[in-house]
Amino acid sequence: MLVTMKIFRFNPEKDKKPHYDVFKLEADPTERVLDLLERIKGLEDGALTFRRSCAHGICGSCAMRINGMNRLACKTLVQNIGDRITVEPLLGLNVEKDLLVDMEPFFENYRSVMPYFVNNDPPPNKERLQSPEERERFDDTTKCILCAACTTSCPSFWVNEKYVGPSAIVNAHRFIFDSRDQAAKERLEILSDQFGVYRCRTIFNCTLACPRDIEITKAIGEVKEAIATGKLD
Ligand code: SF4
Ligand code: F3S
Repeated sequence: MLVTMKIFRFNPEKDKKPHYDVFKLEADPTERVLDLLERIKGLEDGALTFRRSCAHGICGSCAMRINGMNRLACKTLVQNIGDRITVEPLLGLNVEKDLLVDMEPFFENYRSVMPYFVNNDPPPNKERLQSPEERERFDDTTKCILCAACTTSCPSFWVNEKYVGPSAIVNAHRFIFDSRDQAAKERLEILSDQFGVYRCRTIFNCTLACPRDIEITKAIGEVKEAIATGKLD
């Protein structure tokens, strides 16, 4: 099939403002948007800039706006979006070049919620035991690949990038509800400040955008409840 790709372009070293370039190319319906971007970069315009790494939905590098929705380019099949494809950078983060955005504010928010295991007890002889039910409690939020599709689709984040954002809350949730962890109280305190969970207005864009189908808004609700009740069950 013949596909028309309209791609956001901006080179801050040369351009006063962004523009779109249009490419027409033959594509197989089972190809992914990432395949087409690679082909354009390889055969038509080597200056086209975007992030990618694993190309298999695991590294989270190639999140971008495709026909107005945040998606991973490596998981978006041409047959599912049609022959007119518009590709733009994620919203809410500064564009460094073309589809490449500065992820630092996103990772700064991520780091702020202590997204690591804390347990100050002496290490046991074997593993730290946990029941299947206790493991299940935070299973959903272990699936995050830090692609930023959720946070950059959230209007509260667009308004203020200091809002910690859904991705950071998901990653805090993963440890807050881990029965082996001992820093839930500190994380809940961090998330109850003015840029924490209460900036979430339950808009659900994040949940719709997540390529891992994580129930993000539900996880945020559970963190809000834990802050309100002091309970983690
Ligand atoms: Fe990406 Fe989903 Fe993780 Fe958000 S929660 S960063 S959308 S994988
Ligand atoms: Fe934003 Fe998701 Fe809440 S889109 S407002 S973090 S439900």
